[in-house]
Amino acid sequence: MSAEFPIARPRRLRRTTAIRRLVAETRLSPADLVLPMFVKEGISEAQPLVSMPGVVQHTPDTLRKAAHEAVEAGVGGLILFGIPAVKDGRGSAADDPAGIVQKALRDLSADLGDSTVIMSDLCLDEYTDHGHCGLLTSAGEVDNDATLERYASIAVAQAAAGADVVAPSGMMDGQVRAIRTALDRAGYSGVAILAYSVKYASAFYGPFREAAECAPQFGDRSAYQQDPANADESIREVLHDLDEGADMVMVKPAGSYLDIVRRVRDTVDVPVAAYQVSGEYAMVEAAAAQGWVDRDRVILESLTSIRRAGADIVLTYWATEVARGL
Ligand code: PBG
Repeated sequence: MSAEFPIARPRRLRRTTAIRRLVAETRLSPADLVLPMFVKEGISEAQPLVSMPGVVQHTPDTLRKAAHEAVEAGVGGLILFGIPAVKDGRGSAADDPAGIVQKALRDLSADLGDSTVIMSDLCLDEYTDHGHCGLLTSAGEVDNDATLERYASIAVAQAAAGADVVAPSGMMDGQVRAIRTALDRAGYSGVAILAYSVKYASAFYGPFREAAECAPQFGDRSAYQQDPANADESIREVLHDLDEGADMVMVKPAGSYLDIVRRVRDTVDVPVAAYQVSGEYAMVEAAAAQGWVDRDRVILESLTSIRRAGADIVLTYWATEVARGL
């Protein structure tokens, strides 16, 4: 044999679609995808979001329909965000049994039962008039421990309304323990916690602030969300949350933090979720609308990469569409 020809020929396993499919290491399946949904109080028609083409703020009725479609498509779960008609300093609507998310949770659990996993984002920023994720001190700082009491109460209200999983996203220290304790005391020991353990202070949340009408009225979230420069503290956050009783952990955003997804996956033995956030969605939609990228391929590549990095569960605004296509 002449030495100039290679012996190893990796290209053999790339030759046809069928062989590539056979040897693929990562697969996307509908059951791994979770659809984030916005429901707004006091509107009579769904409102399109300018910065997230294809995503809307739902009325309770359009929410039910879209949730049904997502479940038909096979998505693994839904996560709800509520936008109340009235906001105040303590986010009173967040734990009001008549509040918009509680109503939506009751509707969806009546409609869908156990055919999907109904999750609820648990935070205050959509409900406070100042837009911060917690209560403020008189000096205008987010008061960690006072906020924990609010989160505990919201968790119980969401569980009572039918949430299977609550997902605290406010990055207060001790939030998972406070929520777990409150749920157990109220008789909801079966309600799971998906902790947004690793949540960076990210500019990729820009369009979400339009969707959830929750841009901070002053300052930013850097005093409670993580610095994008840091990786080690993500592991500390995850370990604290597991110690406090988290059942699953999340990394957010996803695309720019795949190294963190991988480190978390290699460190823990619980399901790991990653959230492909509003800015990740908006950038692809914007570029695709210009004809600058192939929309469908970019969507699948981005989701496959998040799974390849180690996420078991991916939250994505494309969940229904992608689930239908798989
Ligand atoms: C806070 C929350 C945010 C997102 C999910 N939960 C916004 C923030 O922290 O400012 C962002 C989601 C997205 O950008 O898609 N309740």
